[in-house]
Amino acid sequence: MAPDFLHRGSDLHPVSHPDHAATSLVTGAAGFIGSHLVDALLDRGDRVIGVDNFVRGQRENLAHLSGCERFHLIEADLSSEEGWRGPLTSLLEEEMVHSLWHLAANSDVAAGVADSDVDLRQTFLTTISALRIAREFQIGSVLFTSSSAVYGESDRELDEDSGPLCPISNYGAMKLASEAALSAACGSWLQRGVAMRLPNVVGSRCTHGVLFDLPKRLAKDPERLEVLGDGYQRKPYMHVRRIVEALLFLEDRAPAGFGRFNIGPEDEITVRDIVSLLTGTLGLSPEVHYGGADRGWVGDVPHYRYRTGRLRSLGWRAQEKSAEAVGTACMELAQNWKDSRCSQ
Ligand SMILES: NC(=O)c1ccc[n+]([C@@H]2O[C@H](COP(=O)([O-])OP(=O)(O)OC[C@H]3O[C@@H](n4cnc5c(N)ncnc54)[C@H](O)[C@@H]3O)[C@@H](O)[C@H]2O)c1
Repeated sequence: MAPDFLHRGSDLHPVSHPDHAATSLVTGAAGFIGSHLVDALLDRGDRVIGVDNFVRGQRENLAHLSGCERFHLIEADLSSEEGWRGPLTSLLEEEMVHSLWHLAANSDVAAGVADSDVDLRQTFLTTISALRIAREFQIGSVLFTSSSAVYGESDRELDEDSGPLCPISNYGAMKLASEAALSAACGSWLQRGVAMRLPNVVGSRCTHGVLFDLPKRLAKDPERLEVLGDGYQRKPYMHVRRIVEALLFLEDRAPAGFGRFNIGPEDEITVRDIVSLLTGTLGLSPEVHYGGADRGWVGDVPHYRYRTGRLRSLGWRAQEKSAEAVGTACMELAQNWKDSRCSQ
């Protein structure tokens, strides 16, 4: 029997821009970035199927969409076929999905260092499931949120051809393995696979990261702040709203086949500067204590610098510097901070 990809092709849904009555499938929909992406897809008129197992994602991130007829939220564990087949099959047989956005993953790097099963299951096996779903339900375009963590530690400016790639965390390793699986799918049956290497992302609904951790600590003790690492960690940051714009841009412009793209500003901000911005915006002056290590935890890459020429050649450019992105996120936090104090 001929391999099934030979029966496909003309019946694949086109890679070009969706007609906006199209259906998008978003894995990790209840998470930080996933929930913002769902909002943007609904705003442009798509029907959206969101999938999450709520291991980290929150139903409340999508609560504002209850009653939206164009949105289906499905609880399913994508780390195994048994986990997704029952909840998803009948819906996917009915809907013609144009793009599969694969965001489901472990987002806690330290948890994956402590137990390698975490990244294997939540990051790599969810990618294998996403690709099986794309193949079985003839979805031509898979857009995957990869990470700067695939590069490991390097003093060089990172572009998509930098290598060899030696991740220093299971998180980075399973992202890289996922990119490889996506590339292999494009080599045989998938029309387009886009690996989008995100920088550090900040903004409302975040589930982890420096602007999740520090405000939690400050809420407990506004007078004293313990910071992981020496504070000289230096990385590019983008606001989640801008990230979603970049993802939609790539859906529109990335060519067929396998592609990998750095997304981010070409500058960085240190943790020390983030601490100043955050405490200043919240109107706090805690005693700040930094740790002795050059990084926050094992597996953390303390600094990297992005080059984004590939994305710029398609016409995209980061609109904000890292400090602006962090500043906007701090203002949002300050508003929530004020609201939560008022309701106490
Ligand atoms: N936030 C960042 O700074 C950042 C940076 C680089 C890459 N990324 C990538 O972007 C994507 C989204 O990140 P985020 O910050 O929104 O993280 P997040 O943890 O908020 O979202 C991930 C979602 O995936 C879900 N999930 C995990 N395992 C699952 C499974 N087996 N089945 C179904 N759902 C599952 C979680 O419940 C969660 O809602 C992830 O792939 C992450 O690796 C994020």
